Amino acid sequence: MSANQNQVTLIGLGTIGISMAALHLRDPNSTIHLFDVRSDIEQHILAHLPAFLESVCPGTSVESLISSGRIKIHTTIETACSEATIIQEQGPENVSFKKSLWAQVESIAPPYAHFWSSTSGIPTSEQTADMQDKSRLLVVHPFNPPHIMPLLEIVPSPNTNQDEVDFACTYFRQVSPRHCPVVIKKEICGFVGNRLAFAVLREACYLVEQKVVSVKDLDQIMMSSLGPRWALNGVFESYNSGGGVDGFRGFLNKLEATVQGVWNDLGVMSMTGDDSHWKEYVISQTEQTYGPSSLGQTREKEEKLREVQRIQTSNP
Ligand SMILES: NC(=O)c1ccc[n+]([C@@H]2O[C@H](COP(=O)([O-])OP(=O)(O)OC[C@H]3O[C@@H](n4cnc5c(N)ncnc54)[C@H](O)[C@@H]3O)[C@@H](O)[C@H]2O)c1
Ligand SMILES: *[C@@H]1O[C@H](CO)[C@@H](O)[C@H](O)[C@H]1NC(C)=O
Ligand SMILES: *[C@@H]1O[C@H](CO)[C@@H](O)[C@H](O)[C@H]1NC(C)=O
Repeated sequence: MSANQNQVTLIGLGTIGISMAALHLRDPNSTIHLFDVRSDIEQHILAHLPAFLESVCPGTSVESLISSGRIKIHTTIETACSEATIIQEQGPENVSFKKSLWAQVESIAPPYAHFWSSTSGIPTSEQTADMQDKSRLLVVHPFNPPHIMPLLEIVPSPNTNQDEVDFACTYFRQVSPRHCPVVIKKEICGFVGNRLAFAVLREACYLVEQKVVSVKDLDQIMMSSLGPRWALNGVFESYNSGGGVDGFRGFLNKLEATVQGVWNDLGVMSMTGDDSHWKEYVISQTEQTYGPSSLGQTREKEEKLREVQRIQTSNP
């Protein structure tokens, strides 16, 4: 086996797992081992993976990937992990599940295998609690759908070996030049992308609950201002140009009173208890506005997402 022939084992094949499989399949030299506890695992993969393959290996069927041995479907975690060089989990978001999974994986995987978790929020240092060697695991947090969304937040714990961090970054850059691993220097709730997203989410729910704006108009405001702006320049670059020749410093000086006014006025929001009255109101308005989403709609959005990325990476 040559060094670049990765044996990638994916544990948990729900929303993230299927798309993650498509991302790993971009490496033409790899074998992808799939394991999930669901009893209809093979039917599930045959039904859902094809939609993700179009952009990754066009014209290739899942059946042919299985018969050629590039995809191997396993019914036990032991066989799924036995040859792995990389093991990535995207099972349930549950601390005790992830803790016991990694203790088990450590006992059955080859000693050289790299361990990655796709968790949205359970830090590496909690997941390693029952492991003998806490230096091998790190979080690789994707954004849905990972086969298209470029960002991978690489979040080590203080115990993670630096070589593991470097390996994960190098791997994803090699597998997909469009993907963008970013190392998060400290463990923090929600990492970085979701902290930004959930700060906006909180204020969006507050503004709807206060009847300042409807769900539909809030989304319109986002898509016709901050969305396109932030697709092309991040937060700091945008305000640096917003400040004219004085840059970000000038922006903060000129807008100081308004920025401070908004910060003073940010809504108090909570998921439970007295400050959770907003929830039913905002949820039902969102349901009335959009209804359930369908697979067809999702695929059309994915095509548009790729178009945004083409614009982001094209020369001005
Ligand atoms: N959905 C998102 O937008 C998103 C984004 C980034 C990260 N994540 C993270 O990815 C992980 C999975 O999320 P999801 O949305 O794909 O969930 P999901 O419920 O769609 O999928 C979870 C899968 O894990 C399987 N599973 C359950 N127990 C298992 C076990 N013991 N062994 C192996 N497989 C098992 C389930 O059968 C299911 O197929 C979570 O940790 C989540 O935080 C999700
Ligand atoms: C696949 O293997 C070939 C031949 O060994 C190598 O040249 C190529 O870089 C490998 N591709 C990746 C993505 O690792
Ligand atoms: C979390 O996982 C543990 C261990 O796998 C399980 O016993 C528990 O029921 C799970 N909790 C939830 C809320 O699913």
